[in-house]
Amino acid sequence: MDLGIKGRVAIVTGGGRGIGRETAREFLEAGVKVMTCSRTKAQIEQTCSELAKQTGGDIRHIVADTTKPDDIKKLVAETVSAFGTVDILINNAGTMYSGRFAEMTDEGLQKQLDTKLFGFLRGIREVAPIMRKKKWGRIVSMIGGAGKEPDPYMFGSAITNSALLNMTKSLSTEFGPDNVLVNAVCPGWVGTALWRQHAEGLKKELGVADEEEARRLATRKNALGRFGKPEELASAIAFLCSERASYITGVSLNLDGGRLKGLW
Ligand SMILES: NC(=O)c1ccc[n+]([C@@H]2O[C@H](COP(=O)([O-])OP(=O)(O)OC[C@H]3O[C@@H](n4cnc5c(N)ncnc54)[C@H](OP(=O)(O)O)[C@@H]3O)[C@@H](O)[C@H]2O)c1
Repeated sequence: MDLGIKGRVAIVTGGGRGIGRETAREFLEAGVKVMTCSRTKAQIEQTCSELAKQTGGDIRHIVADTTKPDDIKKLVAETVSAFGTVDILINNAGTMYSGRFAEMTDEGLQKQLDTKLFGFLRGIREVAPIMRKKKWGRIVSMIGGAGKEPDPYMFGSAITNSALLNMTKSLSTEFGPDNVLVNAVCPGWVGTALWRQHAEGLKKELGVADEEEARRLATRKNALGRFGKPEELASAIAFLCSERASYITGVSLNLDGGRLKGLW
């Protein structure tokens, strides 16, 4: 399918690995110019060099921490300086704050809020005026299923995610008249480094010693019975940013292999 976005300019935060990396690749293959960032210099450099070779596309990067307002400003300024504009923002840089209420700390929750709620909001604040002026824009935020279906083990992530879902719907209404589409995706378990970082905690939560058993139990609710692959997330994200999705806004798409059983 021709996505109809050749020549557009995308920012993908957290493109060093995982879902962000695959999303950047998907855009490059569609002829979209990409600016990305992460905190680890060596990894973002290597990823960008590999993706440029693999796709022949135009990808740039900066080292940035999206919990820092000035880094987000710099990311957008560098994009405009390199490519002249911003058409697409993928709010992806983030992590997961797992653990039950009793283990939650104010500092842990604050970090999660700074990374995802404030990091995403600040990115949108920087790009929205550019997109609204040109009457074309796509904003997609990576949220997570626990925002829709509370999970006591995901307490800190879940309450952050619910706020992001509300943000998505509200901003889709506000920016709609300017043809800036604001959507979200809610991944279930995806096989990335993030899962590995949380494997020990999940094993404990599920009461199993074996990582494979934890994987099996984590996905037992999924209709497809398996983890997602980052590239499966990336194709859906690219579609939401495409010309083919021109009538979709305010949506939070579950990319979870059929995990959530609710009707929205
Ligand atoms: N994997 C899942 O099962 C799952 C489920 C639900 C939601 N999600 C969401 O999907 C998004 C991507 O997850 P993933 O699984 O692809 O994770 P990942 O493999 O850990 O990749 C995350 C990327 O974001 C970067 N990053 C993290 N914090 C950052 C910050 N403060 N500033 C700049 N870059 C930052 C990381 O690089 P550095 O560490 O070098 O900065 C890395 O490149 C996250 O928002 C996550 O919450 C994932």
